[in-house]
Amino acid sequence: MQQPGTTRDRALVIGASGGIGGALASALERRGHEVRRLSRTGDGLDLLDEPSIEQAARGLPGEFRLILVATGALTIAGRGPEKTIMELSQESMQDQLLLNAVGPALVFKHFHHLLPRRGRSVLAVLSARVGSIGDNRLGGWISYRTAKAALNQVVRTTAIELARIRRDAICVALHPGTVATALSQPWLGRHAAVSPQESAQHLIEVIDQLERGDSGGFFAWDGQPICW
Ligand SMILES: NC(=O)c1ccc[n+]([C@@H]2O[C@H](COP(=O)([O-])OP(=O)(O)OC[C@H]3O[C@@H](n4cnc5c(N)ncnc54)[C@H](OP(=O)(O)O)[C@@H]3O)[C@@H](O)[C@H]2O)c1
Repeated sequence: MQQPGTTRDRALVIGASGGIGGALASALERRGHEVRRLSRTGDGLDLLDEPSIEQAARGLPGEFRLILVATGALTIAGRGPEKTIMELSQESMQDQLLLNAVGPALVFKHFHHLLPRRGRSVLAVLSARVGSIGDNRLGGWISYRTAKAALNQVVRTTAIELARIRRDAICVALHPGTVATALSQPWLGRHAAVSPQESAQHLIEVIDQLERGDSGGFFAWDGQPICW
């Protein structure tokens, strides 16, 4: 990131009402960045409603060096992740794809022009390691996994296209780790989880280290690349 406190240093967090999104926005503010927070509850930006996304983007003045998309859900309309494919329903997969893949794709569509034409900038979205096809050894969670895998393809495609119009922009998918938030809470069981603040700190360090050649990649909270 550029020097804190300058207009070149503005950051936008979409999904800032969430556990990780809120922690990312606060951590960036503490570092001196000028942060614009957007969310469904705060601003009516609903990822299931393209006009609301377009309107939110149109209402923003100026450019952002960093755009973070921290929206998402694991349980939608009362349907949590499936234990086996026998629990799959058409609705659960549709809902997952719409929110976790199509929604961020529409955000990219309507917000990417807010990245500066010149100089380093980052467009990052929170994906999940379980969206990795190569890393899948357990099965289960078929709709969420599928939606995150689709999101990763959205990132890869956007990165390639973005390079043609924003030469220095970096577009990546990030895995925040297992983080104690409303999203994960019902499914954590005895799994260890870090706080949103700790995850945000790691993610910002990863973002700081990203180079142009990393665009189109998928990275974990510790900076390690994750296979597709
Ligand atoms: N927590 C984890 O362990 C974990 C692990 C891997 C990946 N992730 C990913 O990290 C991201 C953030 O998760 P989190 O744990 O911070 O969850 P969270 O605390 O439940 O926050 C979810 C965020 O998504 C927003 N959202 C949900 N539906 C939306 C919609 N239709 N339109 C606009 N915004 C919507 C919520 O907005 P409102 O509250 O304003 O409705 C909220 O800001 C997700 O993509 C998740 O898949 C989390």
